[in-house]
Amino acid sequence: MFRLSARSTLLRAACGPSPAVAAAAAGRAQQAYRNLSSSSPLYKEDEKAPAATINAEGGLARTDDSVRVEYPTDAEMPQTPIVQGRGGRHFKRTLASFSLEGRTSVVTGGARGLGLVMGQALVASGSDLAIVDLNQQEAELQAKKLLEQFEKENPGLDRLPKITAHYADVGDPESVTSSISRILAEHTKIDHLVTSAGFTENFDAISYPYDRIQKLWNVNVDGSYLFAVEVAKHLMERKAPGSMVLIGSMSGSIVNVPQPQAPYNAAKAAIRHLAASLAVEWAGAGIRVNCISPGYMLTALTRKILDDNPDLNKKWTSLIPQGKMGVPEDLMGAVVFLTSDASKYVTGADLRVDGGYTVT
Ligand SMILES: NC(=O)c1ccc[n+]([C@@H]2O[C@H](COP(=O)([O-])OP(=O)(O)OC[C@H]3O[C@@H](n4cnc5c(N)ncnc54)[C@H](O)[C@@H]3O)[C@@H](O)[C@H]2O)c1
Repeated sequence: MFRLSARSTLLRAACGPSPAVAAAAAGRAQQAYRNLSSSSPLYKEDEKAPAATINAEGGLARTDDSVRVEYPTDAEMPQTPIVQGRGGRHFKRTLASFSLEGRTSVVTGGARGLGLVMGQALVASGSDLAIVDLNQQEAELQAKKLLEQFEKENPGLDRLPKITAHYADVGDPESVTSSISRILAEHTKIDHLVTSAGFTENFDAISYPYDRIQKLWNVNVDGSYLFAVEVAKHLMERKAPGSMVLIGSMSGSIVNVPQPQAPYNAAKAAIRHLAASLAVEWAGAGIRVNCISPGYMLTALTRKILDDNPDLNKKWTSLIPQGKMGVPEDLMGAVVFLTSDASKYVTGADLRVDGGYTVT
């Protein structure tokens, strides 16, 4: 069960207040600004007071301190189903530069959620795959399922993709180096990296337990950094070009409401700028580094949250110009584009896949 320490409050926050309550709140806010403008030397008498921001549902576009969500334990996590019916052979023409034939890709956090689906996209585009995850058992199970699905959709192929599963705690330097050695022992080389290991939690900034902040930054930021550096070292030793995609979030560019998540937002802003910085540092070595910033995506985990809190979907989608949350499959094209030669002059970019959320 996904832990919501203030579930009823979250629901209230998610639904937004009733129109009458919202109108009263907006009135109070504007009165407060009027009081400020009359008492403060910053505002002249005839100056218009700044208007309170009202969102689509009539609530204020602010975080709500009472919304608190803890990342669930492994045992509580729902499984991600393998995408079916989209990876098969097809006869529609497309650019050869999108192909990943002969490449080997590593996806961290690849046992579940977005990482698993992006891994499947890389395999469908011709790549071998090393799934890296804290949950090795799930990674092994999903590697097997991916191969079975691939075989079903591509009968009679001479060569099947090599898909392996590996343990790593991405935030632990020793675990990362030993994971890379084990991947190289099985695949002999790595061409692409996608860093999808990461998680979010919701606590207001004042009461966020410091050890949880450190863990969040460790997995999201250190984990991306450590894997990127190890893969870059390998590519440089081989004098081979390569490309990496760091998974950020639209939260690296905007502040989500109502859930408070300052450390996560800061972590994802760090990821975006890490990708840009590494892109510049490694451009001379032929290594490209880009960022994908997803918006709200319906993974098995977010589906469960929305099942438990049906009104949250309405609240979130009211802020998305396309009017719906994304699905993990929406990242398949983006990750193949950024890893493949189709994007060979693209580096340091942030590709937002968010239904337009960040442009409003
Ligand atoms: N789902 C969304 O709506 C959404 C939106 C924007 C960004 N993101 C980002 O996308 C990435 C993937 O999110 P998701 O929704 O697929 O999450 P998820 O929880 O479904 O999957 C994350 C995977 O990472 C693994 N993992 C966690 N800590 C790890 C560690 N220390 N070492 C190795 N593996 C570890 C987990 O075991 C899990 O398999 C995250 O970085 C997340 O912040 C997700």
